Amino acid sequence: MTSKLSILGFAGSLRQGSYNRAILRVAQEMLPAGAKMEIFDLAGIPLFNQDLEMEPTEKVREFKAAIRAADALLIATPEYNYSMSGILKNALDSASRPHGDNALDGKPVAIMGASIGQLGTARAQYHLRQSCVTLNMYPLNRPEVMVSSAHKKIDDQGRLTDEPTREIIAKLVEALIVWARTFRAKG
Ligand code: FNR
Repeated sequence: MTSKLSILGFAGSLRQGSYNRAILRVAQEMLPAGAKMEIFDLAGIPLFNQDLEMEPTEKVREFKAAIRAADALLIATPEYNYSMSGILKNALDSASRPHGDNALDGKPVAIMGASIGQLGTARAQYHLRQSCVTLNMYPLNRPEVMVSSAHKKIDDQGRLTDEPTREIIAKLVEALIVWARTFRAKG
């Protein structure tokens, strides 16, 4: 029997009531029996300092090990000033260093995002996709999950109340599993 496909999810927000953490939990709850997902909390990853990259903190080592152990990643990005949050960018920078030790190298990844704006993190997601090029990650092209007006679709308890959003997240999860299995088969 093949082992369960493992997905590592993380959200680029530290906010307690984060909409991006909420949609990650939604994705986690809808996984089929053949897959599992751990959510990694980016809180505690220090601001990257290249002078210290040869001695990463325990939290950074833990993050890189979790990435390497996963078959695929699922990133939920907020949009801060038309780009991904500094929290997410800093985490990716940290995981990519030092040179020659990029934990993200070759990882299949699905991207989604929620914002209170009308474009639902579109601009942030395209910046993130740009970083995927140099990180040598393999992002799924479709479906694009851009949750606009998140405050009207996710309630105070972090529950997603919008059915079309739930459906598109389900499609993304399904596609990510197929995508990740392709990479696993290639070994
Ligand atoms: C925002 N927000 C925001 N929203 C958006 O649609 N486009 C944007 O460019 C920005 N810019 C921005 C900058 C900063 C510094 C903050 C703090 C916020 C609003 C953002 O969508 C909202 O705060 C979300 O709730 C952030 O995601 P989480 O924390 O709920 O996951």
